[in-house]
Amino acid sequence: MNSSEISLPPLDNGWATRLDGALHEAVTVQDAALGRIAGGLIRHGGKRLRPQLLFLAASLGKAEEVLLVHAAAVIELIHVGSLLHDDVMDGAATRRGAPTANSRWGNTHAATTGTHVLACAMAELAHLPHEAVSAVTEAAFTLCSGQLRETEHAYDTELTADEHLEIIRMKTATLFGLPCRLGALLAACDPHHSDALFRFGQHLGIAFQLTDDLLDLVGDPASLGKPTGTDLRAGVFSYSVLLALRQNPRGRLAALLRHEDLTEREAAEAAGLVRLSGTVDLTRELVRTHTGLAAAALAGLPEFPGRDALADMPRRIASRVR
Ligand code: IPE
Ligand code: IPE
Ligand code: MG
Ligand code: MG
Repeated sequence: MNSSEISLPPLDNGWATRLDGALHEAVTVQDAALGRIAGGLIRHGGKRLRPQLLFLAASLGKAEEVLLVHAAAVIELIHVGSLLHDDVMDGAATRRGAPTANSRWGNTHAATTGTHVLACAMAELAHLPHEAVSAVTEAAFTLCSGQLRETEHAYDTELTADEHLEIIRMKTATLFGLPCRLGALLAACDPHHSDALFRFGQHLGIAFQLTDDLLDLVGDPASLGKPTGTDLRAGVFSYSVLLALRQNPRGRLAALLRHEDLTEREAAEAAGLVRLSGTVDLTRELVRTHTGLAAAALAGLPEFPGRDALADMPRRIASRVR
């Protein structure tokens, strides 16, 4: 396995197949044409990390599987909808190892399909109890605000590391905390246990986005199934980049990043300067801090079937950028 891949954990009671069926049905039932475009991305899989978190967290209590499949579908559909929109915003060419919807059908179709997928998530949501609906709604607002804040700060070489980490929490960690919270809720877990699982998911999500951002700088596009170097060109400055800018605010890196039409060559030069600055290692350290906090959140929980697979996730995420 390539170091940037994350394999499924050994817990598989057939939920992955049932989830695939639910996702396929959800996106094709209303509009065949939009379903075809969305179905392509869904058939190309993805790591299904967020649904895994939901099923594993729910194993701490007792839940009806049919509800878990609906909840997992809601979360994966919100994720896929946000990826469709994100690829339009980033002008990305590949996703999950295949051409993006925007590159095949254009931005308008891709954005409309993203909205269609989010509508499909809403239809799935109708199967869930009120408390779950509120948790999903709150998360969706936070995710959108995070994405919007990121856009507002595009090309902002003065963005602080703290503000950047808050954006990561909002745009990514939210969709890691949510499945943990929903799994616990649907399995009627003790509220303290549910809070611990939520904290686990949040820290895991922050670590995950930090590794994803590092891989955009130092990763291999073939094993990631998506291009690298897009963040710098889109003006999305990651933790390593922001720390490198702080070291030398008037240096060559700042001069390069201040203009919005970096050539491939300039982007490669900027990435090289960041790698030379030593901040990639500081980011790896922050990844370890958050994977450590995730592990600590699990420590107080009693034994349950999904515990080992959950406990393994921080290690697997950190190992992507070892
Ligand atoms: C991609 O998430 C978006 C980020 C938060 C970085 P994943 O890397 O989980 O995407 P898939 O679902 O496996 O394609
Ligand atoms: C995307 O983050 C986060 C959301 C879709 C909300 P990225 O922009 O880093 O994701 P990739 O790298 O395109 O997968
Ligand atoms: Mg992106
Ligand atoms: Mg990324």
